[in-house]
Amino acid sequence: MPSTRDRILRLAGAVVVAALLGAGAAGAQSPAVNPGEADSAKQQALRQQTQPLNNQPMWSEVRSGQKQYTSIQGRETDILMQPQGQTWRALRNSEVSVYGGWALVGILLLIGAFYWWRGPIELHEPYTGRKIRRFSDWERIVHWSTAGSFVVLAISGLIILFGKNLLLPVFGYTLFSWLATLAKNLHNFVGPLFVACVALLVLTFARKNLPQTGDLKWLLNFGGLLSDREVPSHKFNAGEKLWFWGGALLLGAVISVTGLVLDFPNFNQTRGTMQVSNIVHLIATTLFMMGAFAHIYIGTIGMRGAIDGMKTGYVDETWAKEHHEYWYNDIKAGRIPTEDAGAAPPMRERIA
Ligand code: HEM
Repeated sequence: MPSTRDRILRLAGAVVVAALLGAGAAGAQSPAVNPGEADSAKQQALRQQTQPLNNQPMWSEVRSGQKQYTSIQGRETDILMQPQGQTWRALRNSEVSVYGGWALVGILLLIGAFYWWRGPIELHEPYTGRKIRRFSDWERIVHWSTAGSFVVLAISGLIILFGKNLLLPVFGYTLFSWLATLAKNLHNFVGPLFVACVALLVLTFARKNLPQTGDLKWLLNFGGLLSDREVPSHKFNAGEKLWFWGGALLLGAVISVTGLVLDFPNFNQTRGTMQVSNIVHLIATTLFMMGAFAHIYIGTIGMRGAIDGMKTGYVDETWAKEHHEYWYNDIKAGRIPTEDAGAAPPMRERIA
């Protein structure tokens, strides 16, 4: 028979063991995460019962842009979803591409209407058959390299931008995927070539595009292009100078920098930087294409004989006198040399 003392001791031991077990059990049941997270987990579990597959709180947290955990470390790898991407996508796919696309259509319509109204700008006098050297071989190489790379970039860029909406429905997935891949690769590789060409173009032609007397008058009268008589100009008129400084230098620089940021994403730039670059690239290239369309028009079908200088290096004296009178007068008076002064024109160019 246990004594009263033994009974008391056993009871005390049982109380201690029960207390210890109770504490252990309580420890096992305490939340492994903080109360806020436990609460959110509870809410998610409840949501799965009331609204299956709707995991809105979790996605809100991921989309908030706050840092998450990823096993791959590096710049921005801990941001699972970048909310600004939504804004970029909306801007690119709606405002920028829609307005940009219509702006390109608009300028083509405007040029078409001008051609219909004015026709090609003709010379008043017949060709003399005497040629003036207008561009050196180097100048023509630089010009045509820039022009060639521009054409490739413009066509491939437009396929990248509008292809999904305009070409995919016509060509179908197989052909369009080939075309889009080709366009993307051409664009990526020709881009840096264009950057080099634009830099050389700017260096080659900068001095001859400096402002001169008569430029303002030319601008104020739109060169007389709407009337029958052109306003006299030096080697390059004010319109050409505007295209040179605003188009080749300014837009060329913006296009080149943003293009390189997009082309080489391996320099640790963030998604935000690339999104801004993409929108700026789109705006600048749209403006550049608008200017280039006008430039190509006036250099080809818009003005008789305008292509000769860049095609052969030489222009007829009549053309020089009627379109760049100050330049013609300066050459005639011997005040400035022609390009590559000593070179004789190729035989076929001497026969007008
Ligand atoms: C005047 C010349 C250029 C034109 C007209 C042009 C036009 C375009 C257009 C319309 C896009 C599509 C943008 C989009 O879909 O969001 C684009 C994208 C791009 N451009 Fe250009 N661009 C020119 C020059 C350059 C240059 C010089 C570079 C590089 C040095 C370049 C690199 C890129 C890159 C990497 C993309 C993204 C292509 C892709 O989605 O894979 N571009 N360009």
